[in-house]
Amino acid sequence: MRHLISAADLTRDEAIRILDTAEEMARVADRPIKKLPALRGRTICNLFFEDSTRTRISFEAAEKRLSADVINFAAKGSSVSKGESLKDTAQTLEAMGVDAVVIRHGASGAPYRLATSGWIDAPVVNAGDGTHQHPTQALLDAFTMRRRLVGPDAGIGRDLAGRRITVVGDILHSRVARSNVDLLHTLGAEVTLVAPPTLVPVGVEAWPCEIAYDLDAVLPKSDAVMMLRVQRERMNAAFFPTEREYSRRYGLDAHRMARMPDHAIVMHPGPMVRGMEITAEVADSDRCTVVEQVAAGVSVRMAVLYLLLGGNESDTAHPRSEEK
Ligand code: CP
Repeated sequence: MRHLISAADLTRDEAIRILDTAEEMARVADRPIKKLPALRGRTICNLFFEDSTRTRISFEAAEKRLSADVINFAAKGSSVSKGESLKDTAQTLEAMGVDAVVIRHGASGAPYRLATSGWIDAPVVNAGDGTHQHPTQALLDAFTMRRRLVGPDAGIGRDLAGRRITVVGDILHSRVARSNVDLLHTLGAEVTLVAPPTLVPVGVEAWPCEIAYDLDAVLPKSDAVMMLRVQRERMNAAFFPTEREYSRRYGLDAHRMARMPDHAIVMHPGPMVRGMEITAEVADSDRCTVVEQVAAGVSVRMAVLYLLLGGNESDTAHPRSEEK
């Protein structure tokens, strides 16, 4: 693995290796000193052209826990506002000695362009591009599902074969949905997408998943239900159905959650819009894993960076610790 651009690029073995390594990394968070020396002397740049809370901060936390030097670049306030291109921005950063670039960009394909253009030599990690891909989100979601739905020992070495995952909401604009469909299929899960017909992408029939429009009928057959935010900021046309109608038909409230099997979990990549796709009662319930997903994000991003920059076959399972 030289770059991480798309969840679709991962083989089953590569995905499981990342998830297993993330389990090792998760143990670091339980230690008094939450650091490994693995990336000491390496510099990682977080290049964010789009807003983010979870992804940006968890990449930074992951890099610091691996002892890397961190450069945070936000397009707002940079020379991008004067017209500087992605190529010149990236080459400027590499000239300062950057060893890896984490990039979030509003344009689908920007990380792929950066990784394949020859502009820079550093490995590129996609932290979300337009409506295309968000591979580390799919990995942290799979990590959470494996812990909750597979076990024992957090499902180490195992995939998600036979688990039924339902993804609900604005599929049209969701890089999270695309990445999850790709990765969950690779890991053997059965995915059903539920959305209003206006928020389903053209060509979805070719995706490795089912499409449904009646959420109430799908819930009793779901092991995990992932709610998505309606991305109003990516919509040019008037939003249809209305917010009220959307919540009534596709929102998850306690009454609807009661249709799920007892073991089933509720997931959300965040940010949530409480009262729209999910009620506060559901978001705050024991069945909702949104906070676990955020914690998983640090471990999974540590694993990805470690494997891209510092890991090898022999030491992956036991990253060296500074603890004596
Ligand atoms: N899930 C996610 O990508 O959240 P942020 O936009 O806050 O990074």
